[in-house]
Amino acid sequence: MRFFALFFLIVFLVSIDPSSGFSLIRRLNPCRVSVASTLKLCASTANGEESKSGEAPVDEAFEPYRGPQPVEALPDIFVPQVLPEEVDEELLWVPQTDTVSFRPLCLCTSGGYYVNLLRVKGAGLLSRHRHPGPVHGHVLKGRWKYLEHDWEAQAGSYVFEPPGEIHTLVVPEGVDEMITLFHVTGSLLYCDVDGNVVGADDVFTKVELAKKHYEKVGLGADFVQQFVR
Ligand SMILES: [Fe+2]
Repeated sequence: MRFFALFFLIVFLVSIDPSSGFSLIRRLNPCRVSVASTLKLCASTANGEESKSGEAPVDEAFEPYRGPQPVEALPDIFVPQVLPEEVDEELLWVPQTDTVSFRPLCLCTSGGYYVNLLRVKGAGLLSRHRHPGPVHGHVLKGRWKYLEHDWEAQAGSYVFEPPGEIHTLVVPEGVDEMITLFHVTGSLLYCDVDGNVVGADDVFTKVELAKKHYEKVGLGADFVQQFVR
């Protein structure tokens, strides 16, 4: 009888102290249960919510990767503010026409695409063009529309341009400035009204335009290299 009483007493004591190395009902750590639950539980904890078990997250979940990166991996690009308010970044804008300019963010010559800010000052137009590849756009400022569609994109809008489509970007009267972040895969094939190709732009023409501009304004042609991958 004494033996059983002693046994239950030990079980009771270790159960109220889960940190004990002898605990028989040690709680499972939420960050070690499974990959799926780890992602879910650790994400909610990272957002400031308490984990479901009520335990503090394991520090390791928030530690940076400590192994080597692939030798062939390209360096990242970090632009802290694409639209800085206190810095004169006018020199970074590469003019394409009197009203249209672009600011490169990533000129991916190895992947055949580019990410840039497209800016149109005042009412203007980006010539009719066709994309062989997909394009993603996020409007940051102003508004614009395609002559071929009914909708109007405005600050905050997201646009997917499907491969093959021909369209003409127009900034209407009353808009002082339009800026949209575009991720362009492949090229812009400029077309006449019947769709015949009359010109083209791609990541390589963008690099050349940027080189000439940065050389001209005194930054040097190599200034563009920080955006090239
Ligand atoms: Fe387009």
